Amino acid sequence: MNFKRHRRLRSTESMRSLIRENHIHKEDLIYPIFLVEGTNIRNPVASMPKVEQISLDLLENEIKEVWNLGIRSIILFGVPNDCDKDNYGSGAYAENGIIQRGIRTVKKSCPEIIVIADTCLCEYTDHGHCGLIEDGEVLNDETLPLLQKTAVSQAKAGADIIAPSNMMDGFVAAIRTALDENGFGHLPIMSYAIKYASAFYGPFRDAAQSAPKFGDRRSYQMDPANRYEAMRELESDLVEGADFIIVKPALSYMDIIRDVRNNCTLPVVAYNVSGEYAMVKAAAQNGWIDEKRLVMEIITSFKRAGADLIITYHAKEICNWLDGK
Ligand code: PBG
Repeated sequence: MNFKRHRRLRSTESMRSLIRENHIHKEDLIYPIFLVEGTNIRNPVASMPKVEQISLDLLENEIKEVWNLGIRSIILFGVPNDCDKDNYGSGAYAENGIIQRGIRTVKKSCPEIIVIADTCLCEYTDHGHCGLIEDGEVLNDETLPLLQKTAVSQAKAGADIIAPSNMMDGFVAAIRTALDENGFGHLPIMSYAIKYASAFYGPFRDAAQSAPKFGDRRSYQMDPANRYEAMRELESDLVEGADFIIVKPALSYMDIIRDVRNNCTLPVVAYNVSGEYAMVKAAAQNGWIDEKRLVMEIITSFKRAGADLIITYHAKEICNWLDGK
C-alpha cells in the first residue's frame, strides 16, 4: 500500500511540539488599557468581563502588574469626562489631556515598557465621530491638522509609537510630517491601515464611551465585503511611511491578514477587538467552550494567518497560561 502517513508526526506531544509551526510569545502581545478621570476608580466594562476602566492614580500599579506578567507593550485609550468633550476633540491634543498624563505616568513608573498611543478623536468629540463635522459630513483634510497636533502632543508626553486609527485619507503622511518637523523623526507609526466598519466594535464603544451620536462610520471605515480595497489602503500607507500595519478586526478577517503578510514586509498587527473578546467570554461564562483552549487557538490562528503582533484584551490571562497558571 502506498499512501502518506501524516499521523507519524502527531504521535506524542513531544513529536507535535517538534514540528509545531506557530507559537505565541508574550512579546507578541499588546495590552489595551482604558484611562478615566478621577481617583481610585475601577469601572468594570459590562460587555467585556475582566476589562476595567481605571483612573490615573491606579495606573502605576497596573503597569507593574502587566510588566511582571511579561507584557512588553500597551496601547492606551483615554476616556475623558463628557464635559471635556467638544466639537473639535480638543481633549485629544491638550497638554494635560487624560492620555498625555497617562503616557507620562507610565513612562515614569516603567520606562522600558512600550507605550502605544491611539491617535483618534472619537473619544474626545461631543458627536463621537473621528473627525470634524460639517453639515453632517466627516471632513477629511480639515481633520488632518488635529491628528497632527494629537500625535505631536502624545510624542511630547513620551509615547514610543503613534497609532492613528481614524481612517482619514493621508493620515500617515500628515502625522509623519508633523512628527518629523517637531523632532520626533525617530518615532514609528503603527497605522490602523485596514480598519473595517465593524459590528465587532460594540463593546469597545461602551469601554471608551465613543459611540457616534448620529450616523455611523461607514464613510471612513471600510466595507466588510471588500478584500481588494484592503490592498489599496495598504499601498497608500506603505507609500506614506507607516512602520507597522494593523488589520482590524482580526477574527473574521484572517484572509486580509494573510493578504497583507504576502504583500508587505512590515510587522503585521492583528487587533483582536472587543466584540471578539466579548463573544468568547460570554460563551465561557455559560460553560459552552473551553476558554483557555479557544483563546490560544484563536491567537495562534492570527499568527498562522501572518500576524507578528496581536493587540488583545486576553493578554494578561494568556501570560498566566503560558506560565502554567
Ligand atoms: C477608535 C478606536 C475604536 C477601536 C479602537 N480604536 C473604535 C471604533 O472605531 O469605533 C475598537 C477596538 C475594539 O473594538 O476593541 N477609533
